[in-house]
Amino acid sequence: MKYKIGLIGLGNMASALIEGWVNCKRDSSDIIGFDIKQDRAKLIGERFGINIGSDIQETVGSELVILAVKPQDFTSIKVDIPKETTIVSIMAGIPIKKLEEVFPNNPIIRVMPNLLCGINKSFIPFTCNDKVDKTRKEMFILWFSDFGEVTEVKESLMNVMTAINGSGPGFVAYLIEAFSEASVFEGLPYEVALKLTLSIFEGTSAFLRKNNISPNSFRLNVTSPGGTTSRGIWALEKSGIKGTIYDMLRLSSERARELENS
Ligand SMILES: NC(=O)c1ccc[n+]([C@@H]2O[C@H](COP(=O)([O-])OP(=O)(O)OC[C@H]3O[C@@H](n4cnc5c(N)ncnc54)[C@H](OP(=O)(O)O)[C@@H]3O)[C@@H](O)[C@H]2O)c1
Repeated sequence: MKYKIGLIGLGNMASALIEGWVNCKRDSSDIIGFDIKQDRAKLIGERFGINIGSDIQETVGSELVILAVKPQDFTSIKVDIPKETTIVSIMAGIPIKKLEEVFPNNPIIRVMPNLLCGINKSFIPFTCNDKVDKTRKEMFILWFSDFGEVTEVKESLMNVMTAINGSGPGFVAYLIEAFSEASVFEGLPYEVALKLTLSIFEGTSAFLRKNNISPNSFRLNVTSPGGTTSRGIWALEKSGIKGTIYDMLRLSSERARELENS
C-alpha cells in the first residue's frame, strides 16, 4: 500500500496524533491526510510535512485509515475503503456495529485517545471487530504505542473510556483552573499560581507512578495530625467533592451512551 496511515479529518485530534508521531520520528511521508477544509489541510501539511490528498479517496490506499471527524459528520464521509484496509475510528459514541453498517467488509478498530497524544502521554484503550487479525492488531499497536500505553478493552467499556480518557484532560484542566484561582484568592500572582499548580499536578502524578503507591496512602503520609493538609482535606470532605466527581463521570458516560444510541 502507498501509505501507512491515512487520516480523514484534520482537526484538533488528528493534529495531536500527527504531532505525537512526528515527535517519535515517524516518517511523515508515510502519512496522508484529507480535510474538507482545504486551507486547514494545507496548514497541517506544511506544519508536519505529511502528504495532503486533494480528494478523500487518496487517503484510503493506506494500511490504517483513521476516521477523525466529529461523530455527527460520520455519515458525511463518502468514500470506498478497500477491504484490506483497517479502519480506525477515534469518534466518540460511534459503536463498531454502526461502523460495520457503512463498512461491512473491513477490519475495524475503535479507539478512545485524547489530546495528550500530541505530547505522547495518552492512554490508548481500543476494541476490535472480528476481522482484525493478529498482524493488523500488531500494526495498530506499533503506531499507537507512540502515544502511550495501548490496552484492549471490551466495547461495553468504551463509553466510560470516552468520559475518563476522552474528556479527562478537560476535567483535570478545570481542577487546575480552580486550584490556580484559589491561589490567586490567597494572594499569589496568577502566573506563579498556575506554575505552582501545574508542578503539583505533574509532580504528584509522577511520584505516585514512580513509587507505585495508592493516592490514599500518599495522602495519609502527608497528612500530619492537626496540620495544614488535614485542615484543607476537611473542607474537601465537607463539600462532598468525591460525590461531585462521581456525578461528573456518570453524566459524561451517559452522554457518550446517548451519542451511541442517537
Ligand atoms: N478533541 C478531543 O479531545 C477528542 C478526544 C477523543 C476523541 N475525539 C474524537 O475525535 C474526533 C475529531 O474531534 P476533533 O476535536 O479533532 O474535531 P474537529 O477539530 O472538529 O476536527 C474534525 C475535522 O474534520 C473535518 N470534516 C468534517 N467532515 C468531514 C468529511 N466528511 N471529510 C473530511 N473532513 C471532514 C472538519 O471540518 P469542519 O470543521 O468544516 O466540519 C474538521 O476540520 C471526534 O469524533 C471526537 O469524538 C476527540
